[in-house]
Amino acid sequence: MKGRLIVWEGVEGSGKTTQVAAIAEWLQSTQSQEVVTTREPGGTALGKHLRNLLLKEEIHTIHDKTELCLYAADRIQHLEEVIKPALAQGKIVLCDRFTASSIAYQCYGRGLDYSLVEQFNQIATNGLGPDLTIWLKLDVRIGLQRVKLRGESDRFEKAALEFHQRVHQGYQDIALRQPQTFITIEANQPQALVTQAIQQALSKHFQEFDET
Ligand code: TYD
Repeated sequence: MKGRLIVWEGVEGSGKTTQVAAIAEWLQSTQSQEVVTTREPGGTALGKHLRNLLLKEEIHTIHDKTELCLYAADRIQHLEEVIKPALAQGKIVLCDRFTASSIAYQCYGRGLDYSLVEQFNQIATNGLGPDLTIWLKLDVRIGLQRVKLRGESDRFEKAALEFHQRVHQGYQDIALRQPQTFITIEANQPQALVTQAIQQALSKHFQEFDET
């Protein structure tokens, strides 16, 4: 059976972690394929170091292009070590963040050139894209409020509201450009309802996939 890559995107505090766990459990019980959950940055041993470098607040001087490179390096390692082998074995890979995060954060958020970010995405993936992306759409103010309540914030969570609003705009634009594969899920509702909405979207996708 063919493996599938399902990616999760959203601003800080959009509830990805909770929803990935809930959907992984649901897929394990409804699909015959094995389910693997992973994330970027930090889905490999090397990636965990890169994640620390990227998110720890005390590292103050990461140039925007350096940041882009580090995310791309994390992605290359992740694809080679985790994602590609899992897909080759016919597994369903649930990946918390992928190339759209680089577009939303490094291009829209930081202001790097779109074509530069796309080039790095292309180098990292060599064209391997998600079968489906689930975008948990949430007002950034609500997301940041949730993060604040959780306690300690990382380098991105401490960024200005305007930065996160630009990131949100990035996701909005991708969703408009790719309505078939970049699925918008309204995340400002009770967790169980968000899970239900994702289950509906995935069921439709799996049905269409089985028919082709
Ligand atoms: P994540 O682990 O999803 O943090 P959280 O669970 O708090 O949402 O992502 C870590 C941060 O890395 C997040 O702020 C977004 C950022 N990021 C980028 O800027 N570019 C990228 O390509 C990726 C994958 C993540």
